[in-house]
Amino acid sequence: MNERYSIDRASFPGPVLVTGAGGCIGSWVLALLVRAGVPACALDLSEDKRRPRLLIAESDLEKIAWRTGDISESETVVQVFETVRPCAVIHLAALQVPFCKADPVAGAKVNVVGTVNVFEAARRLGIARIAYASSIAAYGAMDDGHGAMHTLYGAYKYCDEQIAKVYSEDWKVASVGIRPGVVYGVGRDQGLTSKTTFAILAAAAGRPYEVPFSGGVSWLYAGEVASAFIHAVSRERKGAPVFDMNGVYAPVEEGLRILRQLAPSAAITSSGQPLAFPMHLPDEPLRAQLGDYGNMPLAEGIRETYEAFQSLIRRGLVSMPE
Ligand SMILES: NC(=O)c1ccc[n+]([C@@H]2O[C@H](COP(=O)([O-])OP(=O)(O)OC[C@H]3O[C@@H](n4cnc5c(N)ncnc54)[C@H](O)[C@@H]3O)[C@@H](O)[C@H]2O)c1
Repeated sequence: MNERYSIDRASFPGPVLVTGAGGCIGSWVLALLVRAGVPACALDLSEDKRRPRLLIAESDLEKIAWRTGDISESETVVQVFETVRPCAVIHLAALQVPFCKADPVAGAKVNVVGTVNVFEAARRLGIARIAYASSIAAYGAMDDGHGAMHTLYGAYKYCDEQIAKVYSEDWKVASVGIRPGVVYGVGRDQGLTSKTTFAILAAAAGRPYEVPFSGGVSWLYAGEVASAFIHAVSRERKGAPVFDMNGVYAPVEEGLRILRQLAPSAAITSSGQPLAFPMHLPDEPLRAQLGDYGNMPLAEGIRETYEAFQSLIRRGLVSMPE
């Protein structure tokens, strides 16, 4: 796993705090950190380590300090920062598109107030390395001609980018924002765009599945995006730049064709309209800023995910939901 992503232990003089660490990307960030020998501290709402367990051996999981707390509560966040004294923060805690739609107030608390809490705690403690997750859904809030769907989630993420800019300008709290596209891989089990991963899981489970969208999507491997977040905090940065992160651009149908080579009898199809988010954005500006954070070709990423799901299903750790 780590050969592909070259994470240098020596770049981290203290622990890396990962918010939303029990989520998909957070679990991959923890897995890469622990394998590189970088001390990690997880912060999440609950102690549910279901996703990290899919990627990290129990003996390694024990090395990760795990704190439970709500990112939207400022006192909790300050207290965690003061106790952990991280050298860097990777802020991923958020509610995804369907959850923001179902409960807009909760979405604003977690996705906006939570981000203010992280920046405020970093300002107070003088933490100089922060990376946070925005999203391609932020394009919906920009009305910049991409024709992206308007969502509250995207509005909150765009707001986060503006918060980061103000913290940089007013208080010199620097950060890197990353707007991931459609992340796929082990651990991706919720959110509007999780259906490409469900297709791979269904094939591994020998079950039929229909991806409810078609056409071009970004295929961004979860390990690759986790590596980019870690590289973003591997040294101090300037300002508050925000970068798109697309991975491989390919139609859903191309991914399903690769999948059928692995599982010829799999009844996996796609239908419906293409997703109304920009899906073909360049990764070059992010690569120019971060250097080589590794890259995962589509066929290899799908094969790795398919084989990992087969093994996890055999071990009873993952199943295809009814
Ligand atoms: N997965 C994608 O394709 C994708 C694409 C673009 C952006 N992002 C962003 O990347 C980040 C990580 O995405 P993911 O796929 O790992 O998400 P996820 O939904 O798998 O995980 C989110 C984690 O945040 C935690 N969380 C939620 N509310 C919290 C709170 N109040 N306090 C503390 N923790 C809380 C959840 O318990 C969960 O473990 C998010 O900010 C997401 O918006 C993801």
